Amino acid sequence: MANVEKSFQSFRTLIVVASITFPILIIFYLTHQNSIFDIFQGIQNNTTNICDSVASAKNNTFEDEKNDEKLFGGLLVSSFNESSCVSRFRSYLYRKASPFKPSEYLIYKLRNYENLHRNCGPYTKSYNETMKDGANFSKSGVDSKCKYLVWTAIEGLGNRMISLVSTFLYAIFTDRVLLVRFDNDMMDLFCEPFPDSSWLLPKNSTYWNDLRQFKTWESMFVNNKGNDPLTALFLDLMNNNVRVTNRFHCDQNQVLLQNIPILILRSNEYFAPSLYLTYSFRQDFNKMFPDKDTTFHLLGRYLFHPSNVVWEHIQNVYEAHLAKENERIGLQIRIYNTRQTPEETIINETISCLQQNMLLPKFNMQNSSSPPLEKNTSKVVLVVSLYSKYGERLKSIYESNTSLSREVIKVYQPSHEEHQNSGDNMHNIKAWSEIYLLGLCDALVTSPTSTFGYVAHSLGGMKPLVLQSISGKSIPKVPCQRLKYMEPCFHDPPNYDCMANATVDFTSIFHNIRRCEDQSRGMKIINT
Ligand SMILES: *[C@@H]1O[C@H](CO)[C@@H](O)[C@H](O)[C@H]1NC(C)=O
Ligand SMILES: *[C@@H]1O[C@H](CO)[C@@H](O)[C@H](O)[C@H]1NC(C)=O
Ligand SMILES: *[C@@H]1O[C@H](CO)[C@@H](O)[C@H](O)[C@H]1NC(C)=O
Ligand SMILES: *[C@@H]1O[C@H](CO)[C@@H](O)[C@H](O)[C@H]1NC(C)=O
Ligand SMILES: *[C@@H]1O[C@H](CO)[C@@H](O)[C@H](O)[C@H]1NC(C)=O
Ligand SMILES: *[C@@H]1O[C@H](CO)[C@@H](O)[C@H](O)[C@H]1NC(C)=O
Ligand SMILES: *[C@@H]1O[C@H](CO)[C@@H](O)[C@H](O)[C@H]1NC(C)=O
Ligand SMILES: *[C@@H]1O[C@H](CO)[C@@H](O)[C@H](O)[C@H]1NC(C)=O
Ligand SMILES: *[C@@H]1O[C@H](CO)[C@@H](O)[C@H](O)[C@H]1NC(C)=O
Ligand SMILES: *[C@@H]1O[C@H](CO)[C@@H](O)[C@H](O)[C@H]1NC(C)=O
Ligand SMILES: *[C@@H]1O[C@H](CO)[C@@H](O)[C@H](O)[C@H]1NC(C)=O
Ligand SMILES: *[C@@H]1O[C@H](CO)[C@@H](O)[C@H](O)[C@H]1NC(C)=O
Repeated sequence: MANVEKSFQSFRTLIVVASITFPILIIFYLTHQNSIFDIFQGIQNNTTNICDSVASAKNNTFEDEKNDEKLFGGLLVSSFNESSCVSRFRSYLYRKASPFKPSEYLIYKLRNYENLHRNCGPYTKSYNETMKDGANFSKSGVDSKCKYLVWTAIEGLGNRMISLVSTFLYAIFTDRVLLVRFDNDMMDLFCEPFPDSSWLLPKNSTYWNDLRQFKTWESMFVNNKGNDPLTALFLDLMNNNVRVTNRFHCDQNQVLLQNIPILILRSNEYFAPSLYLTYSFRQDFNKMFPDKDTTFHLLGRYLFHPSNVVWEHIQNVYEAHLAKENERIGLQIRIYNTRQTPEETIINETISCLQQNMLLPKFNMQNSSSPPLEKNTSKVVLVVSLYSKYGERLKSIYESNTSLSREVIKVYQPSHEEHQNSGDNMHNIKAWSEIYLLGLCDALVTSPTSTFGYVAHSLGGMKPLVLQSISGKSIPKVPCQRLKYMEPCFHDPPNYDCMANATVDFTSIFHNIRRCEDQSRGMKIINT
């Protein structure tokens, strides 16, 4: 108890020093009385304690205010080498300040995670012991100090980024160290997210081997009943709502997984809502994200910093085509079925959406040939699509018509103006730049169910207009609708009630679980 009192002393000292944090700390103290002692344990250990996190995040001087914006209210740490990751220090000059602030508890969890990663990352003593080929574990399973979660890639960049964020959140909840299997096509996209360590799984690790050689959790649950001590397990969360994958969120399964030192996880989904469904994680989830709608936004901005190569590309496009315009409108067109939806229908739906929502002015049908206004009146539409025809068509429409407001409307699609060197990762570098650029726009129109669009709007902190899916030629009366929630959609959520051993509709049990606006099968966690 003496230690606790000492902790409380430092708590009080801090109040005097950092008077601006006073109300925050008091509110925090009042709302977290039960857990306050857990948190102050951090002071005795080598972990960052929550008061330090808060104090370093808030300081009253101008310089510190700028710093606060740079470091996103304490979400990020300043200890990185600037020249190795320029975007980490300069993105605040391009992005509007996010209105969404990380909670003190999230900051505390991230600092603790960083310490764990520092102590257990590649080539540390614990890594060498646990991750070496044929490591021998005693029957009780984990005697090893560090446990690992190896993320493995599947499908496009949008899917990879939503699954990575979910996997990182799972790593935090389970005190595992996240290591990523980045092949050549993922190298050079992102900076290292964790200080003084690396998140890349070393290329010569056994866990780069073919996934089929690892035990799957089907074999563990169905055949072994979890009795066999295992070193590593392949946790395949593809097709989340079938087979045992449908039971990932059951606490009894999490208890079994807990004892396995190395999990190799594969998913193409934003499965963070599954972690909310897991009873044993829910309290932490609620404390880390009092505003559930910011889960991806905050974790994404924590993890994903464009590498210097990508950043240069983003900066060049931004300076050349977006910076000088009065307003920037991001438009992402993803068509799954190009044969059934004629180009003209898609263009008309898009224009109709932009005009109905006052993002762009209506055309002047009179052809009064009045000259466009010159100063301070241009808008740019940044078109992102696999196909250059949409950008080209929009461009020609806006070049050959005048608008009622006489504003100049420019259309720019990066992909067809660029001549890129071919290379393994060029496609992903371009995709990542465009995701990021969309997030720098003032308004956003995206396509339904696109994970690429989800990442763009969530990172940007925006609720986009989402085009209605169309098939055939008719354009819906309401061509697009604004998303109510910022989180990506979990397309194939589980539907298994672990207690009742029965199928269930979670939206009828939890008042803060909703179906996605763009896919009724999907699920989102919302605020209540
Ligand atoms: C801090 O150390 C104490 C023992 O000194 C331990 O019981 C506690 O779990 C540790 N807390 C954290 C957050 O590591
Ligand atoms: C705590 O961490 C610092 C650096 O982060 C290290 O120098 C120090 O030895 C650590 N102390 C303990 C008791 O682990
Ligand atoms: C707050 O700002 C003052 C003056 O610039 C500085 O001395 C102090 O170290 C800062 N405190 C924190 C916690 O950053
Ligand atoms: C920062 O990184 C650059 C290049 O990666 C390196 O040349 C430089 O020495 C580093 N600086 C520090 C202080 O580590
Ligand atoms: C872990 O292994 C690597 C390579 O075998 C070695 O360079 C490193 O020093 C080892 N780390 C420790 C803490 O022994
Ligand atoms: C693993 O450890 C057990 C006892 O802890 C021992 O009996 C067994 O021989 C070891 N296996 C290997 C391959 O070292
Ligand atoms: C992996 O590479 C590191 C550094 O190149 C080396 O020290 C280590 O021995 C290698 N480990 C294995 C298992 O080959
Ligand atoms: C698209 O819009 C143009 C101009 O308003 C119109 O002439 C054309 O019929 C429309 N096409 C479709 C398929 O709706
Ligand atoms: C508008 O008028 C000009 C000449 O005054 C003509 O060249 C142009 O084709 C007309 N545009 C449309 C859309 O009718
Ligand atoms: C440019 O337009 C914006 C509104 O669209 C206005 O707030 C601003 O004052 C204008 N700037 C100049 C230099 O006219
Ligand atoms: C605008 O220009 C295009 C030619 O590029 C023409 O086909 C179209 O009908 C014009 N008017 C509208 C309202 O789109
Ligand atoms: C769950 O229900 C299925 C049939 O719906 C049954 O076969 C199975 O034994 C049940 N499991 C448990 C643990 O009750």
